[in-house]
Amino acid sequence: MSVSTITPWVVGNWKMNPVQADALKLISDFKKLLERAPIAEEKCILGVAPISIALLQTQAELKTAGRAVHTVAQDLSRISATGAYTGEVSAELLADYGIQYVLVGHSERREIFAENAAILNAKIQNALNAGLTVIYCVGESLEQREAGQAEAVVLQQVCDIAAVVAAEQWQNIVIAYEPIWAIGTGKTASPDDAQTMHAQIRQGLKQITGYAETMAILYGGSVKPENAVELAACPDINGALVGGASLNAESFHQIAQAFANTQ
Ligand code: 13P
Repeated sequence: MSVSTITPWVVGNWKMNPVQADALKLISDFKKLLERAPIAEEKCILGVAPISIALLQTQAELKTAGRAVHTVAQDLSRISATGAYTGEVSAELLADYGIQYVLVGHSERREIFAENAAILNAKIQNALNAGLTVIYCVGESLEQREAGQAEAVVLQQVCDIAAVVAAEQWQNIVIAYEPIWAIGTGKTASPDDAQTMHAQIRQGLKQITGYAETMAILYGGSVKPENAVELAACPDINGALVGGASLNAESFHQIAQAFANTQ
């Protein structure tokens, strides 16, 4: 199977946004756009990741989207099952409430919340064992890129999880390459640089899993309608994890269309 046959994913990471009224309007506007200009499910997998207290409301609203738009949790607990862990939400509880997708390893969690490889591995193991699909984020800082360490850092982050992902579970992992210097800055990696890193990630994955050729590797970092077509044209960029532009229904729809049009 060639990598160009991988169905692209376009996922909106809303981060700690927006207020409820705006979230409901955003979903409603996006549903209207999907009605007016449908995007076939087989051409693009769609998801949105709202704040945790909005997961179920978002999921309920998206049920009438006319096609699958997955609701994605932005985080989960490193502790599994149930118990006396105030403030935590486990993989099993996400699954029990019908949430089947979760982000792990976002640079904001790594940096601001000090999530290291051990914590991330616990989260990934819990998520996969509960049957969730994980969007695992990797990416280098500006300092690391300028020091020529970008590839080594990113490949190490990919390899870090190999210890906890069982052979068949790689099918339930999507990788998101998000260079930290491109997040929320308006600076996007050039399509060439992004493609180069994505190809290296896939090479790295080939050393650890037989599913490397079928795994989606998403790009994230200032993805906008203006750069989505060029990024989508790269053979190893199989979708986008979109922050700021996903808070605008039209922008998010246009980005999804750009990736769907490659199919
Ligand atoms: P921006 O699209 O706002 O740069 O955010 C990217 C991101 O962090 C998505 O997870």
